[in-house]
Amino acid sequence: MKITAVVATKYGGPDVVSLIDTELVEPISGQVLVEVRAAATNPIDYKFFSGHYGDDPSKLPMRLGLEVAGVVLATVGEVTGPSAPLHVGDEVIVYPAPGGYATAVVTDAELAVAKPQNMSFEEASGLMLCGTTAIHALRAASVRAGNTVLINGASGGVGLMAVQIAVADGARVIATASTTQHELLRSLGAEPVVYGGGLLERIRELAPDGVDAAIDLIGTDEAGDVSVALVADHSRLATIVGSGKGARLGMQALGMGPNADPGVAIRSAARLDLVRRVEEGSLKVFVDATFALADAGDALRDLAQGHSHGKIVLIP
Ligand SMILES: NC(=O)c1ccc[n+]([C@@H]2O[C@H](COP(=O)([O-])OP(=O)(O)OC[C@H]3O[C@@H](n4cnc5c(N)ncnc54)[C@H](OP(=O)(O)O)[C@@H]3O)[C@@H](O)[C@H]2O)c1
Repeated sequence: MKITAVVATKYGGPDVVSLIDTELVEPISGQVLVEVRAAATNPIDYKFFSGHYGDDPSKLPMRLGLEVAGVVLATVGEVTGPSAPLHVGDEVIVYPAPGGYATAVVTDAELAVAKPQNMSFEEASGLMLCGTTAIHALRAASVRAGNTVLINGASGGVGLMAVQIAVADGARVIATASTTQHELLRSLGAEPVVYGGGLLERIRELAPDGVDAAIDLIGTDEAGDVSVALVADHSRLATIVGSGKGARLGMQALGMGPNADPGVAIRSAARLDLVRRVEEGSLKVFVDATFALADAGDALRDLAQGHSHGKIVLIP
């Protein structure tokens, strides 16, 4: 089957990204073919082709993307996903979906979760990578009901998930974000505080009895310094940016990277937890912008600015 897909043809900025027509491998037993209706972008997508993780020429041209939502076009044999048997016409979320910036993907059935009915394809495409990361970070910092947790970088893709999950689970959330996002964060049940000079004092004023745990979703020096200064029990600090100061200060690093905990089992189990939360109405995915697949370079240029609020999504 012919598909259209996005590739990086060399290492560099968003200009190295282009569309190609290519042949999709045939699905084999236990796999499904999914027509992509929406593909979410993530900072890791541009980190791969920007050279952040190395510049091995043998990886070029590099297909991009890690998560999609779409419709099952074909199955090989009887196949069952993590939530249910899969049939042609089912609406699914595929994660991980390497090469997901494309019109279709082939995936193992185990990676295709039934899409909640109460969300659009655009929203569904952005649920899993940020959601599983948020759950992993909150778990690593042992955030429980009644705790006060500091979430650094609360208005981004991962941050908006972490805020909603921590609030739903009964924690008090102090959320760093630029002022434009404070109303949204308040509406989600968090107490927003603007980042930048004087942050430590502002948080101490808000939480004179202290902060139990902190997660760093931004990797700035400030997020690392403030988290370490505020939380007495350093085993309750976690960062998802392994190259940031928080990791150098000893916060648990999560996800990719040499000394990071990938949290494979936690993240895999978190997928159905996320679906349940969406279906119950306690979790939403915020779509910041949509772009046509052909404009993936522009979408990644926007994302790389680091100031989006929710997901930037590609529509094939
Ligand atoms: N380890 C893992 O498993 C894992 C998984 C997912 C993501 N990540 C990494 O985590 C980071 C965040 O990912 P994301 O998808 O949430 O990114 P994102 O959607 O691009 O969000 C970044 C957010 O940070 C806010 N921000 C910018 N400067 C800030 C500052 N100094 N302090 C606090 N907030 C600030 C931005 O909003 P304003 O500019 O309006 O404040 C924006 O909303 C990226 O580096 C990504 O690669 C790691």
